[in-house]
Amino acid sequence: KREIKNICCIGGGYVGGPSAAVIANKAPQLQVTVVDIDARRIEAWNSDNLPVYEPNLFQLVQPARDGTKDRKPNLIFSTAIDEKIAEADIIFIGVNTPTKKTGLGAGKASDLGWLESATRRVAKAAQGETIVVEKSTVPVGTADAMREILAANAQPGAEFEVLSNPEFLAEGTAVTNLLHPDRILIGCLETESGYAAAEALCDVYANWIPREKLITMNLWSSELSKLAANALLAQRISSINALSSICEAVSANIQDVSYAVGLDTRIGPKMMNASVGFGGSCFRKDILNLVYISETLNLPEVAAYWKAVVEVNEYQMARFVKRIVHTMHSTLSNKKLAILGFAYKKDTGDTRESPAITVAQRLLAENATIHIFDPKVRREQIYADLQTTLDDPRVTVSEDPYDACRDAHAVIILTEWDMFSNKPPKSGNAPVPQRNGRLLAAAATNGKPAESADGAVSASSSVSDLPATAKPSPSPSRQKRLDWKRISELMEKPMYVFDGRNTVDVVALSELGFRVEAIGVASKPRSTR
Ligand code: NAD
Ligand code: UDX
Repeated sequence: KREIKNICCIGGGYVGGPSAAVIANKAPQLQVTVVDIDARRIEAWNSDNLPVYEPNLFQLVQPARDGTKDRKPNLIFSTAIDEKIAEADIIFIGVNTPTKKTGLGAGKASDLGWLESATRRVAKAAQGETIVVEKSTVPVGTADAMREILAANAQPGAEFEVLSNPEFLAEGTAVTNLLHPDRILIGCLETESGYAAAEALCDVYANWIPREKLITMNLWSSELSKLAANALLAQRISSINALSSICEAVSANIQDVSYAVGLDTRIGPKMMNASVGFGGSCFRKDILNLVYISETLNLPEVAAYWKAVVEVNEYQMARFVKRIVHTMHSTLSNKKLAILGFAYKKDTGDTRESPAITVAQRLLAENATIHIFDPKVRREQIYADLQTTLDDPRVTVSEDPYDACRDAHAVIILTEWDMFSNKPPKSGNAPVPQRNGRLLAAAATNGKPAESADGAVSASSSVSDLPATAKPSPSPSRQKRLDWKRISELMEKPMYVFDGRNTVDVVALSELGFRVEAIGVASKPRSTR
């Protein structure tokens, strides 16, 4: 049986950092090191201001990194890449694999440049027996390319086994997801040494995850399962979003439809929230990767099927902007629009592929002036995403949501931060049905409340797993809620709210004088036409 003492994670991003922090906490007998070519990122991991915002992450990182009176430090962040590779028994490669921008497969295929250069570095620096774990999301067959590179460049006496171990965490709930995963998937070569390596990796996870959740299969099934999971999750959202356009036309309500459909246990309630569109660094990239794989396998019908998931998402964003323009009398010139939320989802400061970027750019193209507020996204990030500079008179980033709303003609909600909602607050972790207004009250008293339709795990549910000395971080999504009455007093009239996340109670806001346009809800209900 292989003895594992030392783990190295190459890539200290949204996956590498939190994953290493959880392993270090749950397996204090192991030394866990995160290395990155980005020295500033490593510096930030070694500071009080981590490079990645995740609820409760600092509480995990800090004791493992700095040690406490009860435990020695076992979590290291370093730029000494070759040295740390040489010391490791298991190396996780969790580097970025974005969509290629140029060349063959541009706009669809994954750019494996970072993965290959990390693999070459492992090949040259590793000593003795090393298990190399493909943590990044990759096209099917990548493990073979890694095996070839490793074998061709190995130092004398060095031996490698490659495993696939895709990551399923979602941002904003990464700590909870890593502590309590639905499953851990390990793909290996179907050989004796492949099985032994998979067993060694299972032993690491078994420090905190029940054995029945650790599943193994061959490398290619494992690699494909990751793409399949993201494709199916995104497909649910596109399906609901496609239905939301029908709802708007026929006076049905998408929240009620999601709720009714999700009660079928074969369908389930998660990932069923209609929205302005899905964002994030994974869904679009991984589906386009699947499309590219299908095309190269000469399966055009399969490629077209998955491509439609991305096309519906783009359509949803376009539809939302069109609705804003049409509702506001077909001109946004000289109008101030308050944008609430810029992150691609709540509880993260990440803006990669955020629908807010697309929507904001299109509003600017209509000559609107935009004032943006997000509780976690940095100002410089917003300007960079919008490809503009701080002196652009059309764009202001406010740290106060009321400044953003002052004299605005419309409020546009693009991230579902809890603080924007005027729906009844969730009590503890109890999920509430995501339905709107008065129906909600009736439904909630009718027995068990349904699970949250977005399927998001409450970020605070991991609190009991934090080190005893750690205090859970107050989630910014639990910040003081907006005073919508105050906003109504600040805005130009007529006042519009375009809710891209179905986060507000339409009835309550209408009573304050707002005209609310929600996704999947008709502007003019059939009964009043
Ligand atoms: P990221 O961009 O946040 O982090 C990647 C890090 O790798 C960067 O800090 C980069 O500097 C570093 N890096 C790149 N090449 C390197 C090299 N040769 N040596 C050392 N460091 C190197 O990316 P991420 O969001 O953490 O995603 C990483 C991978 O995990 C991707 O393949 C992604 O698809 C997958 N994934 C991401 C998520 C998510 O929620 N972000 C979830 C599941 C899977
Ligand atoms: C996703 C997968 O969920 C995760 O398993 C994988 O490892 C990485 O990709 P992530 O992108 O971080 O995670 O977040 P997720 O919660 O899946 O949300 C993705 C996007 O879909 C967000 O923009 C979110 O707002 C949107 N979404 C989610 C909806 O529009 N409706 C929903 O019901 C759920």
